[in-house]
Amino acid sequence: MKINFAFLFWLLPVWGFAQQVKITHGPYLQALGENEVTIVWTTDNPAVSWVELAPAGDDSFYAQERPQYCQTRHGNRVVGQLHQVTIQGLERGTEYRYRIFSQAVFDQSGTLSCGRVASSNVYSKKPLRFTTSDSQKTDLSFVALNDIHGRQDDLRALCGNVKYGKTDLVIFNGDMVDRMDGEQQFFDAFMDEAVKLFAGEVPVFYARGNHETRGTFHPYFADYFPSRNGQLYYSFRHGPVHFIVLDSGEDKPDSDVEYFGLARFDAYRSQQQEWLKKEIESESFRSASYRMVIVHIPPTGSDWHGAAEVKNKFLPLLRHAGITVMFCGHTHKYQYIAPDDQLHDFPILINAPNTALEVSATPNALSVKRKDTAGKELNVFTYKH
Ligand SMILES: [Fe+2]
Repeated sequence: MKINFAFLFWLLPVWGFAQQVKITHGPYLQALGENEVTIVWTTDNPAVSWVELAPAGDDSFYAQERPQYCQTRHGNRVVGQLHQVTIQGLERGTEYRYRIFSQAVFDQSGTLSCGRVASSNVYSKKPLRFTTSDSQKTDLSFVALNDIHGRQDDLRALCGNVKYGKTDLVIFNGDMVDRMDGEQQFFDAFMDEAVKLFAGEVPVFYARGNHETRGTFHPYFADYFPSRNGQLYYSFRHGPVHFIVLDSGEDKPDSDVEYFGLARFDAYRSQQQEWLKKEIESESFRSASYRMVIVHIPPTGSDWHGAAEVKNKFLPLLRHAGITVMFCGHTHKYQYIAPDDQLHDFPILINAPNTALEVSATPNALSVKRKDTAGKELNVFTYKH
């Protein structure tokens, strides 16, 4: 008797052999605002993804049906391995619980079919949470670090105090990697560790460093760290602080042999200069109690081209704009540059690769504690409102 095995193919899903999918990295929060957030993760196979959202509470995540938010483009759900789900229409300063889902999508004889579903755990673990930002909040607590260059031990030590409910956000001020060589490489270097520590519940705001502009994977950096304006220079307000995040680009002239003719950072920094002119006129900037600038390459202390560009294009606009303090990295050497009325009427704090800046803003003052990997306090700066 002849047996036709083709029918077995159709039974595979029933028997549990349908196309599998696994969550490989994330989820982590990006572009948090008063009314929105973007949740990012990756999968090992192409999938469509969605997020289910529940209000804060101790009730079961499935006490009732939860609204679903999908990633769509031109009306279609996005099939891929990098998933970015933006949720809009949220309430300001409000806690939510969330669960992520990815369903495998595969080509079955020329037709797209769906397979298994992977999701974050809401049963044996508490669901992940986030709280939207709030310009009316009186206090803010955040941590800034830079130049980690893939040193996970330092990342772990410096973020020891980062906790949901206590830390509102974390700033990565550039050079978290040596190069952007691939997805697995940069997750291995620092981002998987950040997810393990806090990034699923405490949002990361990233100021790109010059090392993130290097490597074959660098064009995809912004896909993994999306901002609300779609640029790598942007601003956001949380509590009493208005943040301006600038992208200082590369440190050498665009014509340097190291860039193989591919760099156009002078024009890019001029574009940011035009944006910055409008930014410092914004209501959010003007009404904030504290105004901070986050930029990887410091404008002073070096005569390299990138530093000169930051100095010549950004400082004249920031001088007399009421900046509280500027945070930089890049030089791998701690330095506190006091205000100088000719160039910058605000202090510049260059953070070292093995220290973190723990910032606390209250109605009266913004205080910055620089701590080392053992948690030892090295410097404290206080800026009165
Ligand atoms: Fe750098």
